[in-house]
Amino acid sequence: MTQVDTLILGAGAAGLFCAKFAAATGGSVLVVDHAKRPADKVRISGGGRCNFTNLYAAPDNYICRNPHFMKSALARYTQWDFIDLLAQHGITWHEKNPEKGLGQLFCDSKSAAIIDMLLHESRAADLRLSTEVGEISHDGTRFTVSLNGQPVQARNLVVATGGKSIPKMGATGIGYQIAAQFGLGVLDTRPGLVPLTFAPHELEWIAPLAGTAIEARVTANGTSFDEALLFTHRGLSGPAILQASNYWREGDTITVDLSPAQNAFEALKAERSHNGRRQMHTALATLFPAKLATALAEKWHLRGNLADQSDKAIQDLANHIHALPLKPTGSEGYRTAEVTLGGVDTDGLSSKTMETKSVSGLYFIGEVVDVTGWLGGYNFQWAWASAAAAGRAI
Ligand code: FDA
Repeated sequence: MTQVDTLILGAGAAGLFCAKFAAATGGSVLVVDHAKRPADKVRISGGGRCNFTNLYAAPDNYICRNPHFMKSALARYTQWDFIDLLAQHGITWHEKNPEKGLGQLFCDSKSAAIIDMLLHESRAADLRLSTEVGEISHDGTRFTVSLNGQPVQARNLVVATGGKSIPKMGATGIGYQIAAQFGLGVLDTRPGLVPLTFAPHELEWIAPLAGTAIEARVTANGTSFDEALLFTHRGLSGPAILQASNYWREGDTITVDLSPAQNAFEALKAERSHNGRRQMHTALATLFPAKLATALAEKWHLRGNLADQSDKAIQDLANHIHALPLKPTGSEGYRTAEVTLGGVDTDGLSSKTMETKSVSGLYFIGEVVDVTGWLGGYNFQWAWASAAAAGRAI
C-alpha cells in the first residue's frame, strides 16, 4: 500500500500552497484532485488576472461565527509575505483603481502565472489529478484513503476541497462530509458574493435597466459597501451587491443609497433654482444616467417640473434616493456564487494550525472552513494564510 506522510485533498489555492510548506519539512506529500487541471478557480479568478490578495486584508474583512478565529493565521502569513513571494518569481502586479482605495491587487499578466508559481513552490510534493476520493478511515494514528479505488495511507490528512460554489468547476461538498464523519460541526452553508434576484414587480423597473451601472452604497444587516451596482435582467449585481450578499439572509430587505457621493436634496434644490422648468426625469438625470432617471421618475410617479416641487417634496424624493429599500427574493445560488458561507465550524479547529482538536493529524484549510472574505482578494489571502498555518505545523 502507498504510504505518505501527508495527503492533501484538493489541488486548489489552499491545497497547493499547503503542499509547499508541508514538503519543506522533508516529509513525503501527495496532493490529489478529481479535476483534470489544478487550481481552476485561480485560473478564472479576477477576470483571468487573479485578485490574489488585498493590501488591507485584516480579520474585520471576514465573516466567521468566531470573529477571532482567523486572526492568528492572517497575522502569521500576511499579504506582504505573498507579495514577496510574487517578487521572487518575477510576477508583476498592480492595484486596481488605486484612487478608490480598495487595495485589490491583480497580476499584470494572466492568472496562470500564479498557478505556475504554486506548482513550482509545491514541486517537492507529488500531484495526482483525475483522482476520485473514496472511503476514508482512521485507525488512531494513520488515515487510509481510497484514491481511484486504491488505498493510500497517511499520517496527516489535509482537507482543502473548497466550498460548493460553481459545481460545474468541480466543487463538491466532500469536505463537509469528511468533517461530519470525524464528528466536527458543520455550519449551514449558503452562497456568498452572489447576485441577488427580485420578484416580478421589482423586475418591471430593474430588468429594462440591465447593463446600467452606478456607484451606490448597499447596506445589508447593518454592513454597508460603497462600490458599483449593476442592474441585470434577473436583479442586481456588481461589487456592492456581491459584498452585501454575504450579509443578506433570505427574507431581509437591503437598503440602497443611489447617490452616496452627492446630497440629493442639495443637488435637486440647486437645480430647481437654476433650471426649474426641467421635467422631473430630466432633473434626476443630473444625478443618474438618463435611463435610470426616467425609470425612477416613473417608479415614483413624479409629475410636473422641478419648480412645482416644494422643499418637502424634494426632501421626500431625496430620502427615497438615499435609502431605497429593496427586498430580494433570493440569489443566483451556487451556480454563480464566488464563495460559500458557513462550513466547517472553527470551534473544532486550532486557529494556529488548522488541525482538528479531536483527531490528531486531520486539518481543514481554505474555503471549506467557516471563514469567508469580502470581495477583493480576501478569500485567496485566507487560502494562503490557512494553508501556511497547517503546512508549517505538519
Ligand atoms: P478551491 O475551490 O480553489 O479548490 C478546491 C479543490 O478541491 C478544487 O481543485 C476541486 O477540484 C477539488 N475538489 C473538490 N471536491 C473534490 C473531490 N470530491 N475529490 C477531489 N478533489 C475535489 N477570491 C479572491 O480572493 N480573488 C478573486 O479574484 C477571486 N475570484 C473568483 C472568481 C470566481 C468566478 C470564483 C468562483 C471564485 C473567486 N474567488 C476569488 C474565490 C476563490 O477562488 C476561493 O476562495 C479559493 O479558490 C478557495 O481556495 P480553496 O483551495 O479552499 O478551494
